[in-house]
Amino acid sequence: VNDSKKVFVKTFGCQMNVYDSERMLRLAESAGYLRAEDAESADLIIVNTCSVRDKPEHKAVSEIGWMHKRARAHEGVKLVLAGCVAQQLADSLLKSHPFIDLVLGTAAIGRLPGLLSRIESGERVVDCADSDADIGMPLADETTPGRSGPSAFVSIMRGCNNYCSYCIVPYVRGPEKSRAPGEILDEVRQFVDEGAREVTLLGQNVNSYGRGLEEAIDFTELLGRVHEIQGIERIRFTTSHPKDLSDRLVQAFADLPKLAGHMHLPVQSGADTVLKRMARIYTIDQYCEKAEKLRMAKPHMAISTDLIVGFCGETDREFQETMDLLDRIRYDSAFSFKYSPRPGTAAAKFDDDVPDAVKKERLAILQKRQEQITLERNLEQLGRTVSVLVEGPGRGGPDRRKGRSECHRIVHFNDGSANPGDLVAIRIDEAFQNALVGTPVKPLK
Ligand code: 5AD
Ligand code: SF4
Repeated sequence: VNDSKKVFVKTFGCQMNVYDSERMLRLAESAGYLRAEDAESADLIIVNTCSVRDKPEHKAVSEIGWMHKRARAHEGVKLVLAGCVAQQLADSLLKSHPFIDLVLGTAAIGRLPGLLSRIESGERVVDCADSDADIGMPLADETTPGRSGPSAFVSIMRGCNNYCSYCIVPYVRGPEKSRAPGEILDEVRQFVDEGAREVTLLGQNVNSYGRGLEEAIDFTELLGRVHEIQGIERIRFTTSHPKDLSDRLVQAFADLPKLAGHMHLPVQSGADTVLKRMARIYTIDQYCEKAEKLRMAKPHMAISTDLIVGFCGETDREFQETMDLLDRIRYDSAFSFKYSPRPGTAAAKFDDDVPDAVKKERLAILQKRQEQITLERNLEQLGRTVSVLVEGPGRGGPDRRKGRSECHRIVHFNDGSANPGDLVAIRIDEAFQNALVGTPVKPLK
């Protein structure tokens, strides 16, 4: 009946949301929808929102308003607001925005097919209820062949119990829940069958994976099992709380050759006093010791981070400690943000006393220094031979290809015979701010 109906998903936020969007697409497909190229040609539009930073509500609602305008040309277009903003605002959104048909919470995604048939028959629905089992993709069937590409994401847990004082995630994603290992491994195998060679295991804090599961298993053990899957050439994971980074996991970088030499280890601030106000539970010395162990376990290990400037009460001196940390660790890359209070968090009750102009200035200073370090780290790659997972064609001629190195850098090279999913050895000849350029050496396989 729904043969010609099409679905389009617009995604904001993190990789978790990218994963959830793919899940929603597949669930809509199972309900008879095809994927639309753009919002204009869609009969079902889903906006998957993020509320971690900035003015997320505002952004989400204006996006869906804009989608609504574009979609008005179609009779009977349905609009769905999903993700963290949906979870947070639930009923009030449906009341204030008459053009929204469905508000879909973060733990309700699995119920999408049933909800779709309800909105198709004219109902307006809010489903933000929690659900124990709702974490993963629907497993393989004949409607979902070969579309993952060389790189796939698999959710291994959802939610977070850490309650860092600035963070809204525990409130919109709920308490931490790990997914059963069998289900995770099945999903990885499914993606391998669809053509994936690299898998990124996703969770707000993957290092605490396994708590509350029937089977006694921790994250390192899970990595070992994923490592055994035939056809997987490279494993990544994100994200990690430094307090839960165990020696066992550090050792895995030495023991598991497919585990990519890159770790995202958000530090947030370089000042112990600020970390304390953020409820991060570690000190900078403890953090640096872990970073050092990682680099000892795997030579050329890349380390990236997240940083917040202008957190409540941050002094010039505390900010300077963050600047000092950049030089101490020498991150390969860093994401940095101005602090903005999130409703309901512990820090929302603190005084957000750093003026916006100061936040802006600190962010600019920090980003400028990190750009220099990133370039220096990229230049250190010159002359090395790195393994690159080919993603597809690059700009500049028919033989041009691009892919990602183990350490997560974009690498361009010429080799007309390289196909997406191939692992190739590339000697690095040039290094820039955002990418490396190199020459194929010999097939790695
Ligand atoms: N303000 C600014 N940045 C934030 N982050 C999380 N919450 C906030 C906030 N209230 C950042 C952290 C986190 C990343 C995903 O977003 O750096 O690691
Ligand atoms: Fe937020 Fe902290 Fe949990 Fe990360 S660990 S999602 S920053 S509360």
